[in-house]
Amino acid sequence: MRLRWSKQKLTTLHWHEHEPNRSKTPSLLAQNIRPLQGARLVYLMGDGLKLPMLNGMGRTDRIDKWWAQPAVMGIGLTLAVLWTLWRVVFFSDHIDYNVNGAHVISPMFSPNVLEWDMFSGWDHPSWVNAAVLILWIPFSFRGTCYYMRRVYYRTFFASPVACWVDEPEINKKIGYKGEKRLFIVNNLHRYFLYMVIPILLIKWWDITHTMTFSNDGYGISGGTIILTLEAVCLTFYVTSCHALRHLAGGMLDRWASGISKVRGALFSKISIINRDHGFWFWISLVLVFVGDAWTIACSKGMITDFSLVLIGGA
Ligand code: FES
Repeated sequence: MRLRWSKQKLTTLHWHEHEPNRSKTPSLLAQNIRPLQGARLVYLMGDGLKLPMLNGMGRTDRIDKWWAQPAVMGIGLTLAVLWTLWRVVFFSDHIDYNVNGAHVISPMFSPNVLEWDMFSGWDHPSWVNAAVLILWIPFSFRGTCYYMRRVYYRTFFASPVACWVDEPEINKKIGYKGEKRLFIVNNLHRYFLYMVIPILLIKWWDITHTMTFSNDGYGISGGTIILTLEAVCLTFYVTSCHALRHLAGGMLDRWASGISKVRGALFSKISIINRDHGFWFWISLVLVFVGDAWTIACSKGMITDFSLVLIGGA
């Protein structure tokens, strides 16, 4: 059977030979393309759809705002990197504050391992801080994330920047080589997952510190709310990880009985939140910086945090 896309607007797919009057609405992509003047596309069963690509970086027949998402993501990631560099290298003060005796720490500098006994007495260089010692773990975890790979291939390498948009000539020359050379580190993602889980648990531990006030009361502050939001979103981000999903239910032929059944059920649950993995990636990332900005503002006295005692208190 032979299908032919023969309209000037690619919005209708006609079955020519056997059912000439039957039409179907094609993919969303077809609704976002410019009418092709005299273009004729031929789709042979089993061959896939051959789209007419315009040659030249960024050239396309799409008429939707295909560039908006990669542009916003590129700007977001660039700002995140610049803020992190500024904080870690140039402005590593004001990493925490106290409100009514409760301790609130910036998500970027947690855990503050320099306060741990094992590092006490270490006469470290002045450029060493908690972020320098710890941040490489979440940074590597995010950098090797499957979703993140999609983002940076699109935004920074334009490979391709969007569906049906032509890529730079150099990409065509080099071609996709897979996760090799520098990108081989992507294969370590599951190990970064193992390393990030303790950090996630410490984030929850940090929240308890924001709730313990000096008058033996327990309650909440602005810091509690922000750190809790960050920990919740980070938990969803980590638990929706593709590698964790595979760890839960992968490598099995069947989820029939016993432990495999439990693993299958876990796999199904993770699969539900895995669908929004990209959302959890961004929201948890944004909240790291919101938490850091909040900590700076409170620590410098620009904002006065509140403390609401809910239990106890003298
Ligand atoms: Fe994104 Fe694992 S795949 S965090």
